Amino acid sequence: MCGIIGYVGKRIADRVLIDGLKKLEYRGYDSAGISVFRDNKIELFRKVGKIINLETELAEKGLNSRIGIGHTRWATHGKPTEKNAHPHISHSKKIVVVHNGIIENYQQLKKKLPASYKFISETDTEIIAHLLEYYYIKLKKDKNISTQNKYLLAMQKTISQLKGSFAIVIMFSDNQKEIFAVKKDSPLLLGIGINEMFITSDITAILSYTNRSINLEDGDFIVISKNKYKIFDKDGKETNRKINIAQIDTNVTEKSGYKHFMLKEIHEQPQIIEDIILTKINRENNEINFRDLNLSKKDINNISRVIILACGTSYHAGLIGKFLIEDLAQIPCEVDVASEFRYRSHNRVIDKDCFVIAISQSGETADTIASFNEIKKLKPKNLMICNVINSTLTKKADNVIYTRCGTEIGVASTKAFTSQLCILFLVSLFLGRQRNILNDKRYNEIICELLKIPQKMKNTIDSITPVMEYWGKHFYQKNSFLYLGRNINYPIALEGALKLKEISYIHAEGYPAGEMKHGPIALIDENMPVLTIATESNVYEKVASNVEEARARNGKMLVIATEGNKIIKNIADFVCFVPKTLDILSPIINIIPLQFLAYFIAEMRGCDIDQPRNLAKSVTVE
Ligand code: AGP
Ligand code: GLU
Repeated sequence: MCGIIGYVGKRIADRVLIDGLKKLEYRGYDSAGISVFRDNKIELFRKVGKIINLETELAEKGLNSRIGIGHTRWATHGKPTEKNAHPHISHSKKIVVVHNGIIENYQQLKKKLPASYKFISETDTEIIAHLLEYYYIKLKKDKNISTQNKYLLAMQKTISQLKGSFAIVIMFSDNQKEIFAVKKDSPLLLGIGINEMFITSDITAILSYTNRSINLEDGDFIVISKNKYKIFDKDGKETNRKINIAQIDTNVTEKSGYKHFMLKEIHEQPQIIEDIILTKINRENNEINFRDLNLSKKDINNISRVIILACGTSYHAGLIGKFLIEDLAQIPCEVDVASEFRYRSHNRVIDKDCFVIAISQSGETADTIASFNEIKKLKPKNLMICNVINSTLTKKADNVIYTRCGTEIGVASTKAFTSQLCILFLVSLFLGRQRNILNDKRYNEIICELLKIPQKMKNTIDSITPVMEYWGKHFYQKNSFLYLGRNINYPIALEGALKLKEISYIHAEGYPAGEMKHGPIALIDENMPVLTIATESNVYEKVASNVEEARARNGKMLVIATEGNKIIKNIADFVCFVPKTLDILSPIINIIPLQFLAYFIAEMRGCDIDQPRNLAKSVTVE
């Protein structure tokens, strides 16, 4: 969600800013803007829509500033208009800011300012610029305070009034050498170059200039100039933070011949799953090796309950995790949407024997962070399953297992989902093994089948691509879809429906197949495609009956079935066959056709597949 970049150094700032903002496009945004100095004055350039609009405008300006700040906005307060786009400038144009997050008390704060302060935008952000200026003008009159301290004090005074979450980057009109920043509950990091410094919400924006960065902590104030940076902690004490060296993988930002990042990421899945399996399973004895998990056998045996917290696609992975943990480790497990859990965790009896698993691709999802903060107060054992190294959630958790599927650029999550499933599968097996639930025979059978999964995923991709392309052409004009699944494949119905909604904007509903007769069956007529996951399992016959029920109401029946099922054609209008595997491993295969179906339908409808409207890659606001 939203992207921030600040630059000071040897290069022409607007070019670095635009280049950085383009790298941040994948996070989702509705407008973009930059601010640089021209003729010693702060200038704003803002545009609604794609960065290219802004770039085109700037191309003719011949700007020469070596310092500037930029922003891609994902509107929370006020429509996506030019006036609401960031940067926002203060009353007397002395201070300019970009902001990621939400200022919850902006309406109350407006009342505190003199009536002469006129608000131009509808955003919550503009108050920051005005408040900063209000305090700065007051402090400027005080001869006992050094100029540098005036900037920092104005920031401190402003920040102390703000409620909400923020990463704020600031320039002062009387200072063309430095950029200031502060953060709380929104990601921000500092990039260290040679004769240049950066500030950004996402390392991707600056990787072509430097791989040295510092992740900032909540409450940190930062000052950067061409050759220097200073960090002050929340008490105003100058402090040092660890410099990270990022691995530069240029492949991640290239489409490598695929039309979209989403398509590339779908194809990457078999290799990613193979890499996870081969690094976590010791092939000499088939045991799972979780060096990252600091839990003794006694801790594991004492686990009374598992609680999984996540949002969106990660939540769907969590729902599958519940089936796996209850089946393979026989531990009761509940899964909660983080935005719900965060407001009722205090009602719960959570003791030290609960094991909390948070799942997040980005590690920056505000709701997951907040629910994790809540539950951590009760000191349970905990684990974070995350893709982004050093992200906020990974620093809060006692144990972290990385999915290591590489940067996911497509807003609609695909490879992060299957890698989360794979890690959850391994964690469940590991817990089950440690608790002596799984005897050698069952355990080895499962491992043996798990090792075949990457090849089966590859085969699935090869065989189902043309089938899904055909389905896409056939169904892209429909207004609504029903996705049905049962048991461990019920969350796959939810995830398949989410993919379709996200990228094609077609209404789709995921439902437990057996629950359909309790309501949604009323929706079914000859115009309603009903996609059912009916692969081999102990509930196959039940699901087949649910298909019959929908068919009896004239629904168009699309079925995902196991290769070799000869009778399914009798009850389905369209069938897509996938390789046979264990039921507990089937979600990792069954999601693939649904990812492709969403992709092909969205393509037929001419949608912006990698950056769907209204969506953000990581939702850093509540
Ligand atoms: C996935 O396709 C979505 N864009 C979204 O639901 C996402 O999974 C959710 O916002 C959670 O993100 P996270 O995994 O980074 O926490
Ligand atoms: N709340 C601010 C706005 O609506 C910032 C949104 C963002 O993070 O992009 O302008």
